[in-house]
Amino acid sequence: MEILIRKDYAAMCDEAAGLLAEEIRRKPALVLGLATGRTPLGVYERLIRLHKDGKLDFGRVRTFNLDEFISLGPDHPRSFHHELRTHFLDHVNIPRQNIHSLVGLIHNVEHYCEVYERKISAAGGIDIQIVGIGRNGHIGFNEPGSSLGSRTRPKTLAEETLADHRKAFPPGEEVPRFCVTMGIGTIMEAKRVLLLAAGAEKAEIVRKAVEGPITAAVPATVLQVHPRTATILDEPAASKLESARYWKWIDENKAKLDEIARPKE
Ligand code: PGA
Repeated sequence: MEILIRKDYAAMCDEAAGLLAEEIRRKPALVLGLATGRTPLGVYERLIRLHKDGKLDFGRVRTFNLDEFISLGPDHPRSFHHELRTHFLDHVNIPRQNIHSLVGLIHNVEHYCEVYERKISAAGGIDIQIVGIGRNGHIGFNEPGSSLGSRTRPKTLAEETLADHRKAFPPGEEVPRFCVTMGIGTIMEAKRVLLLAAGAEKAEIVRKAVEGPITAAVPATVLQVHPRTATILDEPAASKLESARYWKWIDENKAKLDEIARPKE
């Protein structure tokens, strides 16, 4: 796992947006897995800015979203579909037919999830998947105890997750208790994973995810065995890493190692 520690949230977003822009320029028809939540918002802002400045074309990009609350329609302001539209998709030129969303108002959820998996396969798999991390270690909505081989499916949300989302919902409106989420196995098949975490409230779970033993009790730990995960953190989120100095040393030497590994002709 590559660990990149940046001084603050803005620098973390610069790094992640730079990496994504580079991937899109290298492969214009990139299959991009999108995450919601507060953490990636600054990254989306930067990608929009690059697009508006004429520096990044999304015309062939295809997207799949990671998760969604069951029972919220796509126009509900708290649905992830709506959030992704307002914070990213409505501001870049991804063709509508290239946007694949898990939606929350569906009849046969299990069948719907199987079809979603088939769509990902038909697109050639996800090239790069953005994920955040919950305070309980979830990735997507794969809560603690989720099978490390799980596929896209309906799930019951943990009470901790409901509490984290409660303030975003208007008083009197309950946070949906059920969700659909890409599985951990689905995420692990992405060719590259970008794990983002910011803020001191994530420091303890980031330490477990990066340096702790691999366990379904902390789903994000599985990324330790993913062949190509970049974990991008701000200093507060990295503040409990026992090996922070080591991770920084590896990062400082990365450019030199790349020169050796891929010498210019
Ligand atoms: P956050 O959510 O980005 O809002 O912290 C992350 C998550 O729960 O996956």
